[in-house]
Amino acid sequence: MDKQAIAQMKINVAKAALQYIPQNQIIGVGTGSTVNYFIEELAAIKNNIAGAVASSIETENRLKKLQIPIVALNDVDELAVYIDGADAFNSLRQLVKGGGGALTREKIIANASSKFICIVDANKKADVLGKFPIAVEVIPMARSFVARQLVKLGGQPQYRQDFVTDNGNIILDVFGWHITQPIELENKINQIPGVVCNGIFAMRGADKILIGSTEAVIEF
Ligand code: A5P
Repeated sequence: MDKQAIAQMKINVAKAALQYIPQNQIIGVGTGSTVNYFIEELAAIKNNIAGAVASSIETENRLKKLQIPIVALNDVDELAVYIDGADAFNSLRQLVKGGGGALTREKIIANASSKFICIVDANKKADVLGKFPIAVEVIPMARSFVARQLVKLGGQPQYRQDFVTDNGNIILDVFGWHITQPIELENKINQIPGVVCNGIFAMRGADKILIGSTEAVIEF
């Protein structure tokens, strides 16, 4: 599929997400190319939003350019809605996220939100998760230890070169998993000392997925 068609799918789904933005409330905003289109669309309704909690420095900068007030998550009890993309989703609305490396803040905000609306293009559908590698954010000094534990879990970790997360950590991208039990694997990875977070969003998946094609958007 050509780049222009994929961009159109992302634009369509970004536009569709606007109808889920409540009036005069603080919203959570994710990270990635699909969300970047969503942020562009937010410009049209920016006066109806009280503020936004951003899942990355990149998103924060984009929101600031639109003069949308940035709010710290510590200053909010619960967010009404969180809008974010995904690298893959399955039929249970469980997700793989973290291709952009913002997974930890994304998972925190998703869990702090009453509603998580995931915006994706139709190419992200997966029968079984694992084809897209699972990002694992790791405390730098634990890198080799964590990598060995991930191998014991059947994965093939690869150090993401020249990348430091917004939290000052490194990412291991784990290939080779055919994830039939996403909640179980999400838990197992979390239990390795040194792991900050992993990109399986199964315990807290999406509440709704908007799937964009070049012509339409389907709600799932
Ligand atoms: C960022 O860390 C990711 O979780 C993104 O949400 C995910 O990679 C989707 O990104 P795109 O919208 O660029 O495909």
